[in-house]
Amino acid sequence: FNQQEFIKKIAKLELHLHIEGSLEPELMFRLAQRNNITLPYASVEALKEAYQFNNLQEFLDLYYQGAEVLQTEQDFFDLAWAYFETCHRDNVLHTEVFFDPQTHTERGIDIGTVINGLSRAKQQAHEQFGISCEYILCFLRHLSEDSAIATLEAAKPYLQHIIGAGLDSSEQGHPPEKFQQVFGMAKQLGLKRVAHAGEEGPAANVANAWQLLDVSRIDHGVRCLEDEALVKRLAAAKMPLTVCPFSNVKLKVVEHLREHPLPEMLEKGLAVTINSDDPAYFGGYLLDNLQACSETFAWSPQQIAQLCHNAVAASYASDQRKSELS
Ligand code: HPA
Ligand code: ZN
Repeated sequence: FNQQEFIKKIAKLELHLHIEGSLEPELMFRLAQRNNITLPYASVEALKEAYQFNNLQEFLDLYYQGAEVLQTEQDFFDLAWAYFETCHRDNVLHTEVFFDPQTHTERGIDIGTVINGLSRAKQQAHEQFGISCEYILCFLRHLSEDSAIATLEAAKPYLQHIIGAGLDSSEQGHPPEKFQQVFGMAKQLGLKRVAHAGEEGPAANVANAWQLLDVSRIDHGVRCLEDEALVKRLAAAKMPLTVCPFSNVKLKVVEHLREHPLPEMLEKGLAVTINSDDPAYFGGYLLDNLQACSETFAWSPQQIAQLCHNAVAASYASDQRKSELS
């Protein structure tokens, strides 16, 4: 029995993927050239060597810098299309993709340019590969709530392309309660809600994202383990946690993959899913994360299947699509 082949072939879903974090160095250089932008790196190799991070903020600085090559609708199409090609290669059949409009609108790019490019790629991925995709608009938590509200307003003409609202960027100093109003507005608009919480920030951020932002998934959530009572409540409610093992290692949330608390999280009955976060920066896609975890933690095929099943249950796919994916 070939476990790695089994993981490759099983139907997979991804629920925590930042499209700007799927921008591979090679494409970054191609888009820079196309848009007459000079990157502060001499080569793809030099750029890759810079991908060493001591914390979330060091990564975010390079991630936002990299995103500056994205300028036209075609750039956003090409970005998303490259990601869908990896999904097709790895048998990821459904994906729920974050995008950060403020990273682009702050540079003077229209939100329509972003969403139209992403949507066209999604349409083509559906037609050509049979991949289903939903987009989740993320607010940058290091910016003000007013800026988040303005972003939601600007997105109103495009709501048919968006299934939910999320919250990402620097968790330290920007707790969920800062965004209560805009998440209330997102709920009024019929959007699902998710938030990054308990990645670098404390367990209280997980509890507050759940209670005050009324989210139906927690992104990362690993630090919930610091609050036993919260863990019990999350497990009882089957609250999905979109865990990103390679990300946690690269951003030094944990020192080594073998020290990742995934086994403890599963042991405690948490509704864990495995995801890649920013695969171009963290050294691998969903398949790579699953294969590495399976080796490191000696997971059985049943455990892999359970994690994929958790992702189906946690997804915002239609009931019909969920039954196709099961
Ligand atoms: N955390 C917070 N913000 C992010 C991340 C992350 O892991 N990836 C992209 N933006
Ligand atoms: Zn993330």
